[in-house]
Amino acid sequence: MSNKKFQLTDLSSGKSTELEAFSGTVGPDVVSLAGVYKEQGVFTFDPGFMATASCESHITYIDGDAGVLLYRGYPIEQLAEHSSHLEVAYLLINGQLPSKAEFESFAGSISRHTMLNQSLLKMYDGFHHNAHPMAMVSAIVASMAAFYHDSMDIHDARHREIFAHRIIAKIPTIAAAAYKHALGQPFIYPRNDLEYTANMLHMFFAVPCEDYDVDPLHAKAMDLLFMLHADHEQNASTSTVRLAGSTGCNPYAAISAGVSALWGPAHGGANEAVLQMLERIGRVENVPDFLNRVKNQESGVRLMGFGHRVYKNFDPRAKIIRAMCHKVLGKLGSSDNPTFELALKLEEIALSDDYFVSRKLYPNVDFYSGIIYSALGIPRSMFTVMFALARTAGWVSHWLEMIADPAMKIGRPRQLYRGPTQRDYVPLSER
Ligand code: ACO
Repeated sequence: MSNKKFQLTDLSSGKSTELEAFSGTVGPDVVSLAGVYKEQGVFTFDPGFMATASCESHITYIDGDAGVLLYRGYPIEQLAEHSSHLEVAYLLINGQLPSKAEFESFAGSISRHTMLNQSLLKMYDGFHHNAHPMAMVSAIVASMAAFYHDSMDIHDARHREIFAHRIIAKIPTIAAAAYKHALGQPFIYPRNDLEYTANMLHMFFAVPCEDYDVDPLHAKAMDLLFMLHADHEQNASTSTVRLAGSTGCNPYAAISAGVSALWGPAHGGANEAVLQMLERIGRVENVPDFLNRVKNQESGVRLMGFGHRVYKNFDPRAKIIRAMCHKVLGKLGSSDNPTFELALKLEEIALSDDYFVSRKLYPNVDFYSGIIYSALGIPRSMFTVMFALARTAGWVSHWLEMIADPAMKIGRPRQLYRGPTQRDYVPLSER
């Protein structure tokens, strides 16, 4: 409970409702609106959740003004430097960093859940080769609800744990199978002796007819990208997982809903859209003209990879990833990568332009992630899948937190109705 007190007063009748406020461990207090409808007969209205906390959570904290991102209290910069995606997944799920034995047990369990049921693999054949991989991933994850229906009791803690390990283990296999299907290449089985991201790269790039050695730099870069994308508190896809999951539906179905929500260009699809935009701009000389079109707010023209609902000074993930871009491109011998050069020029001009500065528009994580994915050989259509793969750890943590909360309620927003009032049906013959 906070020391602050608030009051909502209907100025026409003078009727007041006292509103309780709650303090988090850090961050703004929240004002509870419980009782407002009962006492005042009004709903509150906040489209886009601009000022509304949708739940209580202990997982991730963001301070958008200060550019802070903490997973379970640990700064993203420290995790990016010292941790791994799998350790971050453990941290997000369990709330603390694992001991050596705990990590070995977790990693061992993940590696023993990597294979897909053969019938599940056959489902890919139902997709045309040029189906978008996000559609395939969403559908295959949803179909896991059918495979693990009877064995999944959301009120059983052990079942929930198996679900968490299973989806984190299988999502790279699901993504790789979508990629291989699009290429028309045979599916490559997981290798449990490889670490999480190395195994993912192996499933993506190995072929049965020759050896494939995972480049440790590629695996490290991918692991870093995964850590940076692992969670971001109540973003659109995580809120979707929570909302779907709040009905008590099968968790694989809830995760599939999250994959679909992530796909949009305003969210995870931005990394794909950034590369599309850079390709369309084509050359550094075209940057000013493109920025003028953005500033004139031409329909559908946005500076993709810029702006964020929460970060209004800088995105801490963008800082880390920008540095990684230099490292990866340098080590891959492509530091003169024309796409990266174009991106840097675009960034430089936009950051000094009053239009973007006054609106607090800065590069977000996805301004750079696609450039690294491209350098690693991941095709553009798979970028958002990479994001989904990483964010699965966050979705799972939030779903687990929500289901274990005894105060959990089905998410059911209200609305401001502006449609017709009651009217009588007119038979077709009289219309
Ligand atoms: N390019 C140009 N103008 C922009 C951009 C942009 N990328 N983003 C916001 N603006 C402008 C808006 O036109 C608006 O200007 P106005 O006040 O003159 O009308 C102002 O900035 C505020 O924009 P909103 O759309 O109200 O900001 P909101 O917080 O709702 O949107 C969002 C955030 C969706 C991320 C937006 O900035 C955007 O579309 N960015 C491009 C897509 C993108 O990169 N998404 C990835 C987000 S990060 C992630 O999901 C991992």
